[in-house]
Amino acid sequence: MSTTVSTRVAIVGAGPAGLILSHLLAGAGIESIVIDQRSRDEIESTIRAGILEQGTVDLLTAIDPNTRVHTVGDRHEGIELRFEGEGHRIDFAALVDRSVWLYPQHEMLKDMLALRLGAGQDLRFGVTASRVEDAETNRPRVIATDADGGQLTIEAHFVVGADGSRSVVRPAITGDSRSGYFREYPFAWFGILCEAPASADELIYSNSANGFALISQRSPEVQRMYFQCDPEADPNAMSEAQIWEALQSRVPGTTLKEGRIFQRDVLRFRSFVASELRRGRTALVGDAAHTVPPTGAKGMNLAVADVVLLARALDALLGDGDERLIDGYAEQALKRIWKAQHFSWWMTSMLHRLPEAGEFDSRRQLGELRSVVDSEAGRTYLAEAYTGWPLD
Ligand code: PHB
Repeated sequence: MSTTVSTRVAIVGAGPAGLILSHLLAGAGIESIVIDQRSRDEIESTIRAGILEQGTVDLLTAIDPNTRVHTVGDRHEGIELRFEGEGHRIDFAALVDRSVWLYPQHEMLKDMLALRLGAGQDLRFGVTASRVEDAETNRPRVIATDADGGQLTIEAHFVVGADGSRSVVRPAITGDSRSGYFREYPFAWFGILCEAPASADELIYSNSANGFALISQRSPEVQRMYFQCDPEADPNAMSEAQIWEALQSRVPGTTLKEGRIFQRDVLRFRSFVASELRRGRTALVGDAAHTVPPTGAKGMNLAVADVVLLARALDALLGDGDERLIDGYAEQALKRIWKAQHFSWWMTSMLHRLPEAGEFDSRRQLGELRSVVDSEAGRTYLAEAYTGWPLD
């Protein structure tokens, strides 16, 4: 079976970027089809990022004033940087009058899926895109396989790759899926979810002699914590007692509240920016365009920022035939992307212990942390970047 459908914008990927884009386009009267290879259940249950920037929350609130971000989510007005066993609060509210919200990405996805399906969005699960053809023409196409194994061709006026770091749309733009700027780190995060009360009111980012740890939360009953590990570490090789010991030894000064660990994973660290973000009538957003290490909590927020720019550019292009914004999309998006790349790399390098680090490096790192927390300018830069630069 082979089917062909037509739409204005074909969006590959029903993550935060694809769903928010379909919403913004619908608001501008531009219809779209969104496809995703995963099932709805898989999208709604995969545990991913947790921190939303101020601008992301403002946008979600504009989309739905009753968004659960404000009821289920938790507003955080600061974070703690810990080193040499001492905590230093970065007070976002006082420094930049902005906040972040702890609201798990899969909860946000539940909200957006319900909203889009309720509005009649053509949203197809279990549909696997394989490639984009004629990307540079006025009628690009997505070639996909639908849930029953039949071939689906989506003819569009524009194609958007919101399909994550293994994007199948990217080669149509960059010529080769690996073409871009890339950095790998010699460490990873061992992440756990556990049933326990919170050990702290806000996130703790800790630099310790044993390496980095992050104490985060999910809800009053469930906590998310990470500690620096070898990228090749086997998540199942450690006992629960060993995991608690590893975490505890990296946050001297706090006694962690322990509980049953019900999920564990190893997250590899990468920084990546694709060599091109657009070719003709095909563009990339979110993880398809870039990857950041999780230390700065920028991944999903950066995807939202891309989408705000792209939605405006597509409105001008498809609504008025005005090509100026789409011609400037990559340049405009890349300004923020590289700022976020820098911030994520900086937080990562300041807080982790490099395997080859010597005594000089560790002491220099402590000097760097001290020059941030002792200076209002230093704390303000961190607060501005962490809460997110305004989405113009
Ligand atoms: C999380 O809660 O999963 C989380 C929070 C902050 C980060 C990274 C991950 O920087």
